[in-house]
Amino acid sequence: MRPLRLRDVTVANRVWMSPMAQYAAGADGRPTDWHLVHYGARAVGGVGLIMVEATAVGPSYRTTSADLGLWNEEQAVAHRRLTSFLAERGTVPAVQLQAAGRKGSHQLPWEGAGQNGSVRGSAGGWETTGASADPFGELQAPREASGADVDEVVESFAHAARMADLAGYQAVEIQGAHGYLLHEFLSPLANRRTDEYGGDPQGRMRMPLRVARAVREAFPAHEPVFFRITATDWIEGGLTLDDAASFAKELAAAGIDLLDVSSGLVVRDTQARAPVREAVHAGYAEALKEASGLAVAPTGQIGDLALADELVAGDRVDAVMIGRALLRDPYFALRAPATAPAAWPAPYRRAV
Ligand SMILES: Cc1cc2nc3c(=O)[nH]c(=O)nc-3n(C[C@H](O)[C@H](O)[C@H](O)COP(=O)(O)O)c2cc1C
Repeated sequence: MRPLRLRDVTVANRVWMSPMAQYAAGADGRPTDWHLVHYGARAVGGVGLIMVEATAVGPSYRTTSADLGLWNEEQAVAHRRLTSFLAERGTVPAVQLQAAGRKGSHQLPWEGAGQNGSVRGSAGGWETTGASADPFGELQAPREASGADVDEVVESFAHAARMADLAGYQAVEIQGAHGYLLHEFLSPLANRRTDEYGGDPQGRMRMPLRVARAVREAFPAHEPVFFRITATDWIEGGLTLDDAASFAKELAAAGIDLLDVSSGLVVRDTQARAPVREAVHAGYAEALKEASGLAVAPTGQIGDLALADELVAGDRVDAVMIGRALLRDPYFALRAPATAPAAWPAPYRRAV
C-alpha cells in the first residue's frame, strides 16, 4: 500500500489502528507495560499509524480512574518509551486527546454497571461537567459548563497537545465524537444552552472550533492534527451529514488535516448508534472529503484487509482506522496473501 504524507509526516501505509481505551493506566494516568506490549505488538504487525487510546487532557476529563493522561510533564516523559518503540518500528505514534464531559467518572467496562455506572466523589470519582446539566442515561448529572470552564477546556487541550509533542507523538487527534464533551456541545440532543456556545449550529460549533484552533496552534506546524468527527447522530433531532459537512469545512479552515469519521452515542438510545454494516462510515467519509477537501479515514466494521485495500485503492478514502479486528489479531495488516515476507519482522520470516 502506498504511503500517505500529511504535513511533514509520512505514514508508511493506509492501515491504521483506531483508538481503543485499555483502562490500564496507573492512578497517575501514565502508560504501563500493558500499553507498551499492546501497542508494540501492533507496530510489529506493520500498522502504519497507531492512534493511542483516548487520553485525558486533565484529571476531571477522564472517563475512569484508569485512563491515560497527558496533563503534565511526568506523564509526557512516561509515554516516550512507547512512542520511541513505535517510531523505531516505522509506525507513526499518534494520540487521541479527550475530555469526557457527562460521560466521565464511570466504572471500568467490565466492573459493576460498567460504562453505565457512575463512580461518585465519595468512592474516588469526581464531578463531571457537560454542555448542559442533563445526564447521559443512568450516569450522574453533570454541572453545566460555565464560560470559564469552556476556557479551561480549550487551554487544557492546548496544553495536552504540547505534552503530546514532548511525549514524542507525531500526530494528535481531538476526540469530537461518541457523546463526549465536544460532541455534547455540537449536538442539539445534548446542548440546550442559551449562551454563545448553544443555540444555532454556529453557536454549537463555537467551543469545538476553539479547541481545534488551540490544538492546531499548540502542536508543531510540521505535524498533523486529526479530528474524530460525528457523521450523524442517527436519530431525529440530532446531527445530520449536512451538519457534519458544514462543520468539516470549518475544521478545514481551522487547520485540521484529517477527519477520522465515526458516529452516534450522544444519547443513551439503542437507535443512536451505527447499525451493523460493513465499513459503515466509508460513504460518510467520502462525502465529508468531498465537502471539506480534507483527508479522511473511516472507522467501523472494516474486518478484512481486502476491504481495506478496496477502500483506499481508488482514493475514496485516504486511510482506514481498524478497531476490533486489530484487537483480535495484531498481525492484521500483514495478512494479505501478497504480503512479502520482507514486510514481517526479520526474526519471524521463517514462519511465513
Ligand atoms: C475496547 C474498545 C475501546 C474503544 N475506545 C475508544 C477510544 O478510546 N476512543 C475512540 O474514539 N473510540 C474508541 N473505541 C471505538 C473504536 O475506535 C472504533 O471506532 C470502533 O470500535 C469501530 O471500529 P471497529 O468496528 O473496527 O471496531 C473503542 C472501541 C473498543 C472496542
